[in-house]
Order: sequence, then structure tokens, then C-alpha cells
Amino acid sequence: MANIAVLGAQWGDEGKGKIVDLYGERADLIVRYQGGNNAGHTLVVGGEKTVLHLIPSGVLHPGKTCVIASGVVLDPEVFLREVEALTARGLISESRGTRVWVSERTQVIMPYHKLIDRLREESGGKAKIGTTVRGIGPCYEDKVARRGVMVGDLMDSDLLRDKIEAAIREKNAVLAALYNHEPLVVEELHAWALEMGKKLKPMVRDTRVLIQEAIAAGNTILFEGAQGTLLDVEHGTYPFVTSSNTITGGIFTGCGIGPKSLDRIIGISKAYTTRVGGGPFPTELDNDLGEWIRKQGQEFGATTGRPRRCGWLDLVALKYAVEVNGLTGIALMKADVLSGLEELKVCVAYEVDGARRNTIPSNIRELERVKPVYESLKGWKTLPDRPKTFGEMPDAFRAYVGYIERTLGIPVVTISTGPGREQTLNR
Ligand code: IMP
Repeated sequence: MANIAVLGAQWGDEGKGKIVDLYGERADLIVRYQGGNNAGHTLVVGGEKTVLHLIPSGVLHPGKTCVIASGVVLDPEVFLREVEALTARGLISESRGTRVWVSERTQVIMPYHKLIDRLREESGGKAKIGTTVRGIGPCYEDKVARRGVMVGDLMDSDLLRDKIEAAIREKNAVLAALYNHEPLVVEELHAWALEMGKKLKPMVRDTRVLIQEAIAAGNTILFEGAQGTLLDVEHGTYPFVTSSNTITGGIFTGCGIGPKSLDRIIGISKAYTTRVGGGPFPTELDNDLGEWIRKQGQEFGATTGRPRRCGWLDLVALKYAVEVNGLTGIALMKADVLSGLEELKVCVAYEVDGARRNTIPSNIRELERVKPVYESLKGWKTLPDRPKTFGEMPDAFRAYVGYIERTLGIPVVTISTGPGREQTLNR
């Protein structure tokens, strides 16, 4: 198997976990390269439910090396809890050959990042993004402002103290002025961070070298994206986005490797669209049908439990995802959710102030005014539960997939008709 990237082609929650699990079986290395514990995959192992937020779900297969690369932001407590839970179940163990490594350059989500994320969101008004309140944005802000704490810094007491001092000087001023909050104490933060460093140390290394060596050795690597294309900080529906590069480009910056190391780039999309949190969503169905899709698809967030907003498949947005990521194929998820509808709609263009557009406007106010232009397609009653061939799918479903492929110009390589592994058709 060639090196594969699996990433969200919509606003996240497309069902990447299942695809990563499937492709992960054949990979030697599974790498997370951006985001943090704002992501979440629900996994069922031996009847026990586990929600993983940081560690790649490929950890469930024996003999895998899981990597948290430098582009990720790491909440040490959440990470250590996941390691502990997986170790207790025997899923991370030497005898299984499963290893988890964290880059020494990965940025640490400090307690003040979470505090500021929460205070900002609580203060409401126009600043509210509807974040997951995990400190993701404030942590990336400090990274770019060059005052972030890297995982490797947690093992250097003096450097760590200097960095924390520098970081909280401004934070204390902001906390007092905007939120009437008491000041943060360097000593407390320093002690906490050193403790985290001690616990993380055995799992920390230069993961760039590890990945490079794996490439040189011809090992198979799976790059696991978090969130989705339209949440990319640069190319998403800014400012209603996350703070990392969720697109393919994020792999290269987030791991420190070049683009030639990637062979296939699979975009994950549901057969419809969902979005959590605030921000424009042109094909949103804020009505009974949207509610029906939410119920059928169990559309509630794995990280925050929030109900997801639901709507028709937006092919303008998906085509955009094909372009910005250089997608080579689509994995179409939750196709079964739409079963039973007489008619389906797909958005084929946007209309803004009377003019037709074929791409996403950068101006958020314009995007809010977008009226979707729909094409109607026939629905299907049911789908085979364990499909073996595309030919056994109902005609209307095949027409739906064909329409998507023609519009996007790339193939739908995988179709998922349910959460189980056997409910998957690879073409
Ligand atoms: P943040 O990443 O917590 O800063 O949240 C920023 C925006 O990204 C919010 O609209 C979140 O709902 C959204 N978001 C972050 N992570 C995910 C995810 O894994 N799935 C879907 N939406 C997400």
C-alpha cells in the first residue's frame, strides 16, 4: 500500500475514524499532524466504547507505530489519560508491538489556553465561534506569536519557567482587564508543566526523523487528518474555522516532510453535509427534514455531544475540497442515512446577490447570503447492509454516486453503509 492521507472534505465529523481504522490495518505508521483533542473518534473494542481524541485510532491494530507530529497541539492530561486507558486494556503494549510517540516540537495546550478559550466563548457576542473549548485556538495563537511551550521544553526547567513567565505577562493583563479574572501564578504552572514533562518523557522523540526513516525504509504511512477542509484556518469559512491547517498542506508543515511522500489523498465526505458550531452553512436544513437526518444519522458530536446541523450534500464545497487538497478519491460515508427519501437534492452552484458562483466566497457576509442552487435526484428505499459489489446497489444510488463523481472529476473509492467494518464497499 502506498502512503495515504485521509482527511475531512467537509466541516469535520465525516466518519474519518472508520476509514482510518480500515486503511490503518495495512499501515506501519499512523500519523496525526494537526489539531488536538477537539477531534474525537468513538470506537467499540470488545464491546467496550472508547472515545479517542488524540491517539490515532490505528492503535487498535497490533504492531502499529502511532505518531503525534509537531503540527498537533497536545493537552498532556488528555493524552496521558488515553495512554493509560489503552495500556490498561492491553492495546498499547510491547508484546503487541504498539508504540505511541509524540514530537518534541508539538505545542502544549497549557491550562491558560483552555481558560481563555472558555472565557472568550462565555463572553458571547460576535467573538463567539462555538469552539470545542479545549484551548486549541489560544494554543495555536501562542505558537504563531512565538511564545508557545513545546513538549520538549517540558523537560528543561529553566527554559520552561522563562517561557511561562513571558507567556503569562500579557495573559494576566488581558484576564484582569477583560474578564475580571485573578492572575495566573508562574510557580503553579511551572510545577504542573514539569510534572507533565516527566510523565511524557518516555514517549517523546524527534518524530520527523522517525517518519523520514519510515519513508526511506519503504514502510506504509497513513496520515490521519482531524476536522475538515472547510474548518482550515486559511481556506475554510474563516473566521468560523479551527486554528490549524486541516488540508493536505498541513501534513507537510505538521510533519516536516515533502509532498513527494504522499501517493493517495482520500477526502472523506458524508452523503449529506453536517456542521457543528457557528458559521455559514449554505445547504443547512433548519426544518423537519434536517431533524430527520440528525436522528437517522445520530448526528451528535463525539467531543462535545452538541447536536450537529444537517443539510444536503454541497458539491460546490466538495469540489473546492478536491482542489485545495488535491484529492485523488472520495470515501462516501453514511450513505444509508438517506435511505427512504423519495427525492434528494445536491447543491451544484451558489447564488449570491443574483449572481451565480461556482466556488466559496471568502467574504463571510457574502457566504451567509448564499442561496444554494439545487439539482434534484431520485432517492432509494434501502441499501444492502453488507454490500459486495457496486452493481448490487439500487439504480438511484448508483446514479447519485455517478453524479458526484462527474461533478468532482474524481472517483468515489469507498462507500460506507453503516458503522461496521463489513458495511463498507471498496471499489
Ligand atoms: P476549535 O477547534 O475548538 O477552536 O473550534 C473551532 C470550530 O471548529 C468550531 O466551530 C468547532 O465546532 C469546529 N470543530 C473543531 N473540531 C471539530 C471536529 O472534530 N469536528 C467538527 N467540528 C470541529
